[in-house]
Amino acid sequence: MLLTFLFFGCYSGIVYLFCDNKPDAPDAAAQRGWKVWQEKNCQSCHQFYGLGGYMGPDLTNVASQKGTSYMRGIIEHGTGKMPDFHLSNNEVNDVIAFLSWVDKSGKSQVADSSVHWTGTYIISHK
Ligand code: HEC
Repeated sequence: MLLTFLFFGCYSGIVYLFCDNKPDAPDAAAQRGWKVWQEKNCQSCHQFYGLGGYMGPDLTNVASQKGTSYMRGIIEHGTGKMPDFHLSNNEVNDVIAFLSWVDKSGKSQVADSSVHWTGTYIISHK
């Protein structure tokens, strides 16, 4: 019994000391970008970690996977499917800072097989 407690104590200590992978707090730009994200309701079409609307792709790791200029192009002009929100240059920079901050929080892999050819998501009810 004592051994179990000892083991649990050591394990908790190790996890506490070495497994802290919380992202840093968002800086001012990322916080402003977060506000734009909420005001424009980007989440209604996009997901973080698979949660959100399913009209557009998951954006958890778009910053590291596609890069800043790619994001800027889409956010500034929209696409056939995504609206152009007519954001100011500063707002676009802030949203990009926000998405880059989210990217540092972890990895969210979306299988190619769950994306329909129209760009929407196939939700399986297994
Ligand atoms: C009406 C739904 C909708 C809303 C709202 C929306 N998007 Fe999108 N977004 C899309 C779709 C659909 C795509 C895929 C583009 C395509 O295939 O034409 C996309 C693509 C993107 C991409 C590129 C992703 C990739 O992996 O290629 C980024 C970045 C993005 N959106 C950011 C945003 C931001 C930031 C907002 C809010 C300001 C936003 N979106 C709001 C529908 C939306």
